Amino acid sequence: MIKISPSILSADFAELGAEVRAVEAGGADYIHIDVMDGHFVPNITIGPFIVKAVKAVTELPLDVHLMIENPECYIPEFAAAGADIITVHAESTVHLNATVAEIKKLGKKAGVSLNPSTPVCLLEEVIGELDLVLVMSVNPGFSGQSYIQSSTAKVRKVRKMLDEAGSKAELQVDGGIKISNIAEVAAAGADVFVAGSAVYGSDDYKATIEALKNAAAK
Ligand code: DX5
Ligand code: ZN
Repeated sequence: MIKISPSILSADFAELGAEVRAVEAGGADYIHIDVMDGHFVPNITIGPFIVKAVKAVTELPLDVHLMIENPECYIPEFAAAGADIITVHAESTVHLNATVAEIKKLGKKAGVSLNPSTPVCLLEEVIGELDLVLVMSVNPGFSGQSYIQSSTAKVRKVRKMLDEAGSKAELQVDGGIKISNIAEVAAAGADVFVAGSAVYGSDDYKATIEALKNAAAK
């Protein structure tokens, strides 16, 4: 099933509650929350307080993407704030296996993300434990960047790894997803699509979410 996870990084933060409710009403499947610390990526965004505030205004699962160094130090706080899926970067934590186990111990879904230059073999030893793999299709830090074309081949590789492992994990892609390119990424095997500027930059969130889903289903 194709899912759309609008990234609130492109929302109007002064109207955050309304912006979250609007994509929920528009057919979004998750709310994607980009957490950045100014170290792992060159931007600072959202912490657990905002996650808690978003939790209070939506029934949708919160898809929390941690772009922070040593995410293991903050996982309990994000779990308590209401994160449903917690995704960490393989590059950001030394003991990835332990970090994934910590997320699952707290009863949350565990995701692992790879930067564009990170090889898929980093997933090999943890793949059986994962609920989600996130292939970054831009260098993380900002919304509104262009899709890196080589990501499609990478998605195909991860799809093969998941299938061979008998894994039911979702395969998410994040960065530069638009109505014009979602079909090729879906055909490569992705099933969850983060869309920041494509959704929040449009005039009609519902129509855009529908168009993204329709294009991906082709
Ligand atoms: C990038 C973030 C993305 C970003 C996506 O570092 O992880 O989730 O907000 O924005 P778009 O869809 O505009 O590329
Ligand atoms: Zn993200």
